[in-house]
Amino acid sequence: MPDEVRIAVVGSGPAGFYAAGHLLTGAGDREVSIDMLDRLPTPWGLVRSGVAPDHPKIKSVTRIFEKTAAHARFRFFGGVEFGRDVTREELAARYHAVVYATGTAADRPMGIPGEQLAGSWPATDFVGWYNAHPDYADLDFDFSTERAVIVGNGNVALDVARMLVLPEAELSITDTADHAIEVLRESAIREVVVLGRRGPAQAAFTNPELRELGELADVDVVVDAEELEHALRTPDPGVEPTARRNVEILRGYAAREPTGAFKRIVLQFLRSPVELLGVDRVEAVRTVRNELVAGADGRLRARATEIEETLQAGLVLRAIGYRGVPLPGVPFDDSRGTIANQHGRVHDAAGPCPGEYVVGWIKRGPSGVIGTNKKDAQETVNCVLEDIEAGRVLEPHPGLPDLGTLLAARHPGVVDYEGWKRIDRHEQGRGQPAGRPRVKLTRLGEMVQVAATNGGED
Ligand SMILES: Cc1cc2nc3c(=O)[nH]c(=O)nc-3n(C[C@H](O)[C@H](O)[C@H](O)COP(=O)(O)OP(=O)(O)OC[C@H]3O[C@@H](n4cnc5c(N)ncnc54)[C@H](O)[C@@H]3O)c2cc1C
Ligand SMILES: NC(=O)c1ccc[n+]([C@@H]2O[C@H](COP(=O)([O-])OP(=O)(O)OC[C@H]3O[C@@H](n4cnc5c(N)ncnc54)[C@H](OP(=O)(O)O)[C@@H]3O)[C@@H](O)[C@H]2O)c1
Repeated sequence: MPDEVRIAVVGSGPAGFYAAGHLLTGAGDREVSIDMLDRLPTPWGLVRSGVAPDHPKIKSVTRIFEKTAAHARFRFFGGVEFGRDVTREELAARYHAVVYATGTAADRPMGIPGEQLAGSWPATDFVGWYNAHPDYADLDFDFSTERAVIVGNGNVALDVARMLVLPEAELSITDTADHAIEVLRESAIREVVVLGRRGPAQAAFTNPELRELGELADVDVVVDAEELEHALRTPDPGVEPTARRNVEILRGYAAREPTGAFKRIVLQFLRSPVELLGVDRVEAVRTVRNELVAGADGRLRARATEIEETLQAGLVLRAIGYRGVPLPGVPFDDSRGTIANQHGRVHDAAGPCPGEYVVGWIKRGPSGVIGTNKKDAQETVNCVLEDIEAGRVLEPHPGLPDLGTLLAARHPGVVDYEGWKRIDRHEQGRGQPAGRPRVKLTRLGEMVQVAATNGGED
C-alpha cells in the first residue's frame, strides 16, 4: 500500500464527518486525504436540515466537524450528487476507498386509505420545509385547521408537535426558514393530537424531549390518567430505564390540571389511524384502539381491537420514521432500506465489495442521535484501516484527472469549503439584526452565487 491513501466520503452529515475525522487522525504513519461530497452546497446533513430550530445548542456539534474540515488534507465538494454528477465507477477509479454516508432522506408511508389527500404529509416534508432545505422550500402547508394529528411516538413527532405550537415570539428568534415563520404566524392550530400505536412504556421519546413539552409557554399537555394506566397494564419485560422515566413524566402530565392555555398537545396511546377521511382534503382521521400482545420474540406489538373513533382534523403528519434511498450501482438491502453491509463493509451477493464502506443512517437505518454516529463511524473506519493494511482496497488508476478537475469540466457551481464559509457568514449576517443565529438561504442558485462572491457579505 502507498503511504498516501485517498478516500472519498459521500455525504457531509454527522456520520460522514465522524468517519472523516477518525480517518484523518487514526491511520498512523499513513497520510490520508479526504474528499467529501454532498448533493447540497451546505454541509452538516440533518444537523442543518433536521434538528429543530428551537434546539440551537445541539447544532453546536458542527464545531467538531469544522475542525475536521480545517484539516490540510480535507476538501469539500458541495452541490455534487453521487449518481447524477459523479458515478460509482468514477470514484472507484480515483480513490483507495469510498465511504457512503448519505443518510435516509425518504419518508415511510402508513399504507392506509386517504393518505394521499391534501393535508396529509410526511413529517420529513414539514421538517425540511421549516428548516429551509432547498428541496422542500416550495411546499404549501395549510394551517387553517384547529386540530392537527401527528402519527408516531418518536422524537421527530415531538419536534413537529412543538413546531406547530411554538409562539411566534419564540419562533422568530430561531433559524426557522422565513417562509415557514410567515405561514406558521397565521396558524389556526390550537390542538395537536399525538398518536402512539403502542403504549407509553413503548414510546421512543427520550426524557428531555418529553419533559420539554410540559415547559412550553401557553400550552397544556393533556394525558388521560385512566387511559394511561390502562395502556400500562400489559407488562413489558423489555422496558428500558428511559421508558420508565417517560412513564413517570407522562403520569406527571396526567396529574396536571389544564391551565386553560390557548394551545394543547394531547398524547394518546394504543391508537392507530386506519383511514384519512375527506373529499378534496383531510377532514378527519378514523382510528382504531389497539391492545398489546407479545410477539414470538417477546416484543410487545399493537393489535387492533374493534373499537373505532373518528377525530376531526385538517392536518395529518406522519412521523413514523425515515427510509434510505438506493444509490445508483451500490448494493441495497431493500428490506432494511440501507446499503447492504456487514459492520460497515459494503456487500453484494458475492461478498464484500473491496474499498466500499458505509456509515450512519444509511448503514444501520434511521435511528440514533448525532453522537450514535461517532461510534458507528469508528466501527466502519476500523474496517477501512484493517483493509488498507491488508491491501484489500481499491487501486486508483494513474493519469486520470482528479475529482476537482473532472467536476470543474462537467458541473458548474461546485461549492468548496471556502464557498460554504461564505454562505455561512452571509446567513449569519442576515440573522444578526434580529438576533437570530442565521437566516438560511433556500435556493440552490443563490447559495452558489453567494459561495462565489468574494467576501460573502450582503
Ligand atoms: C427531524 C430530525 C431531528 C433530529 N434531531 C436531533 C437532535 O435534536 N439531536 C440529535 O442528537 N439527533 C437528532 N436527530 C438525529 C440525527 O440527525 C441523525 O442521527 C444524523 O443526522 C444521521 O447522520 P447521517 O450522516 O447518517 O445522515 P444525514 O445527517 O442525513 O446526512 C446525510 C448527508 O448525505 C447527503 N446526501 C444524500 N444523498 C446524497 C447523494 N446522492 N450524493 C451526495 N450527497 C448525498 C445529504 O445531503 C446529507 O448532507 C434528528 C433526526 C431527524 C430526522
Ligand atoms: N431531540 C432529539 O434528540 C431528536 C430529535 C429528533 C430525532 N431524534 C432521533 O432520530 C431518530 C429517528 O427519530 P424518529 O422519531 O423518526 O423515529 P423513531 O424514534 O424510530 O420513532 C418512530 C415512531 O413511529 C412509530 N411507527 C412506526 N411505524 C408506524 C406505523 N405504521 N403506524 C404508527 N406508528 C408507527 C414507532 O412505533 P413502534 O415503536 O411501535 O414501531 C415509533 O413510535 C431517533 O433515534 C430519534 O431519537 C432525536
